[in-house]
Amino acid sequence: MSIDDEIGEWRRTHYTSQLDSRLDNEHVTLMGYIASIRDHGNIVFVMLADKDGEVQLVFKRGKEVSNNSNSESISIPFFKVKSLKEHSCIAVKGKVKVSPNAPRGVEVVPEELKVLSLARSIPPFSVYSRTFPNLDLRLNLRAIDLRRYYMRAIFRIRHKVLKAIREFLDKEGFIEVNTPKIISTASEGGASLFPVFYFDREAFLAQSPQLYKEQLVTAFEKVFEIAPIFRAEPSRTNRHLAEAISVDIEEAFADYKDVMNLLERMITYTIEYIVKNANDELRIVNPMLTIPKTPFPRYTYDELIDMLRKNGYSIEWGDDLSSEHLTFLGRVINGYYFIVDWPSSIRPFYTKNNGKIAEAFDLMYNDLEISSGSSRINKKEELIERLKIQGLRVESFEYHLKVFDYGMPPHAGFGLGLERFLMTIAKLDNIRDATFYPRDIDRLIP
Ligand code: 4AD
Ligand code: MG
Repeated sequence: MSIDDEIGEWRRTHYTSQLDSRLDNEHVTLMGYIASIRDHGNIVFVMLADKDGEVQLVFKRGKEVSNNSNSESISIPFFKVKSLKEHSCIAVKGKVKVSPNAPRGVEVVPEELKVLSLARSIPPFSVYSRTFPNLDLRLNLRAIDLRRYYMRAIFRIRHKVLKAIREFLDKEGFIEVNTPKIISTASEGGASLFPVFYFDREAFLAQSPQLYKEQLVTAFEKVFEIAPIFRAEPSRTNRHLAEAISVDIEEAFADYKDVMNLLERMITYTIEYIVKNANDELRIVNPMLTIPKTPFPRYTYDELIDMLRKNGYSIEWGDDLSSEHLTFLGRVINGYYFIVDWPSSIRPFYTKNNGKIAEAFDLMYNDLEISSGSSRINKKEELIERLKIQGLRVESFEYHLKVFDYGMPPHAGFGLGLERFLMTIAKLDNIRDATFYPRDIDRLIP
């Protein structure tokens, strides 16, 4: 590449989204990548895309010499234009022209061109393709896959979802915390932990910030964390990742009903924010998104067991709901709903219960679980009892249990799977498209 194709002193003057007819005849410097090329021989149309949008560049043979008095006149050799390939990174200086038929109502006639990075090969997918069936091919080239407008819209919505959640929790008086991701004991049962070497010991990747967020309510009362959780899920499904992002909250002097109300408000606040502030993105991914009505329906575990039995499913009281059961329920009950009052035997040890029924809930969307939460046990003896019943080693939890000697308030909280929530907002079938670089049993790269 010649020195002329270094960025040098050139800096962008406008994003494509800032171009409109008011800039007619103005000189602009644009940078981005090539979304598409239409070559008509003596005239070549190039769609230049940047992070916010795209604009049409019109290269004409013969008009390639610039008379711009501020800079040395540089011509754009037409062979250079002809050699451009989709996805190449370019910079242009040129003049804005009003053009009613062009996609933005304006186009740009380049006077100088820098090819900052020429694509070496034809990419396997166009930025305009909404669906591209080969998921593995896409994931292997994920960074480029994410240039597709459909994918970009999903992740811009994700950004706005996070912004809305933070804004909501901040207004509610929660503070954001971060807790260790390298830990010594399980919090959600030991089955799905990833072991890691930690100096001379074995440690694990955190399945949940559960025990730390409970500890932190002693000082802060209302905390939240948005961070990865790690689950060694051996299953291949469209809703499980080995590394996911969890939005966890914990609140002192509250029970599960309080945090269900909070969760419901957080969901509607976020969706309302997206409907108001992500128009362009929703047009691409889910134009039908509507703000759900509250309160979300609440079904007890018992009611749903009855419903399942009446419809021919055999399920014992105390069994967890299988994916088959959830599929059925999701067909009967649409949208967001809570399942409350679960058997304590199938909830984690820290869940408050009366010996049989736990003060616990799952938030569902059709057949998809998007959040779990509960009132927590705040009495040390009870917690020790539950650890024993669930076959966990009490000694391993000493560091946690001793906090309960110093006045642990009653508290409750939930964990919301960010990718799963995004699936409901952006109408995604596969959780892998709700995360930048999915990790699952078959995938550790890129
Ligand atoms: O239901 P889970 O396991 O609950 C907890 O971790 C509790 N500590 C939460 C609490 O405060 N009581 O995980 C919470 C949520 C799930 O409802 C799901 O949305 C998401 O995290 N999640 C996963 N998402 C994608 N892939 C996985 N393997 C997930 N595991 C959990
Ligand atoms: Mg759960």
